[in-house]
Amino acid sequence: MNASVERRYRPETRLIHAGTMRSQFGETSEALFLTQGFVYDSAEQCEARFKGEEPGYLYSRFSNPTVSMFEARMAALEGAEAARATATGMAAVTTALMGIVRAGDHVVAAKALFGSCRWVVEEWLPRFGVESTLVDGTDLDQWKKAVRKNTKACFLETPTNPTLEVIDIAEVAKIAHSVGAKLIVDNVFATPLLRKPLQLGADVVVYSATKHIDGQGRALGGAILASEKYLKDDLGMFYRHTGPSLSPFNAWLLLKGLETLELRVERQCRTAEALARYLETHPKIERVIYPGLPSHPQYQLAKRQMTAGGTVVAFDIPGDKEACFRFLDSLRLVDISNNLGDSKSLVTHPATTTHSRLKPEERAALGIGDGLVRLSAGLEGEADLLADLEQALATV
Ligand SMILES: Cc1ncc(COP(=O)(O)O)c(C=O)c1O
Repeated sequence: MNASVERRYRPETRLIHAGTMRSQFGETSEALFLTQGFVYDSAEQCEARFKGEEPGYLYSRFSNPTVSMFEARMAALEGAEAARATATGMAAVTTALMGIVRAGDHVVAAKALFGSCRWVVEEWLPRFGVESTLVDGTDLDQWKKAVRKNTKACFLETPTNPTLEVIDIAEVAKIAHSVGAKLIVDNVFATPLLRKPLQLGADVVVYSATKHIDGQGRALGGAILASEKYLKDDLGMFYRHTGPSLSPFNAWLLLKGLETLELRVERQCRTAEALARYLETHPKIERVIYPGLPSHPQYQLAKRQMTAGGTVVAFDIPGDKEACFRFLDSLRLVDISNNLGDSKSLVTHPATTTHSRLKPEERAALGIGDGLVRLSAGLEGEADLLADLEQALATV
């Protein structure tokens, strides 16, 4: 399927067919090219490939046919010109940023970020002379005040991990562009199906494909989606020479994951909303955060920029950390794990895991208390999950 044909089809159709390159054997399922290198008919052909005068593969750190299929399918789904696959979501975030900054540049990011993303912005970039400013992502005035002439990138994740803040991508894109900076959006929680950052004005979208895209606990992976120019001119050399590339085996698993992405995400969103509605009426629960509920602080924005509330719910268990741990330890069906977007429902205690690096006052500023629980809805029966929450809540 070529790109113009792909655009005619609905997302669920692109998820099955886009990017497929059949080999001479005519296989139904995408071929897995587990090879590090490629051979050439002649030294002249090898030279032409290295010079870029002849298309073709050179070495799997640069590109590989199975990885190319995954990249093409991701680009078709997102509506991006092109994609580059990475070994993990963090490799995607780091590569996307490192490709465009130099010593003396400046980055602005929302402070409500996944712990590792925040470390990259707050601790890693400054080591190389790239200053960073963290802002409240929901406050547009803070973005406006923070950007400067040397700001090269604005970075945000939305809905945020774990407190599910929804940030206005269209408005932050305008602010970034006013100083010539690029807006990079980590779209992990929304998935490529619920929100389209590029259509809203973002320049670059990054994913941890480890989450919904695999969604079955098997493989780590990541992707960067953007214009051909950005991926070639800004990222090309960094990607080729530092090696954040995705293994062909994981690319193959992720291709299979994409085939069922729409079915899984639709079901997980329905379940997450049902769990959120149940928790909201539970007498022991004071705060439920879910972008699809009118009680969410950015509900109107979520309605405008997302097509559903997402697969994750956050809520506070009353009392101290011990009470919260009692609740977590009492769950029988829902597993304790710091992953999300999986076919199994998973709960995390952000204060002692993903956000444990932050000081207590920094966590408090983000609304991450000792009672906060992040629940990622899986594919189990809704009634079974509700019953599990009910019996675990009886212990607190
Ligand atoms: C919002 C967000 N971005 C990035 C990542 C990093 O992804 P990975 O674990 O695949 O490196 C995560 C993972 O937990 C995440 O939640």
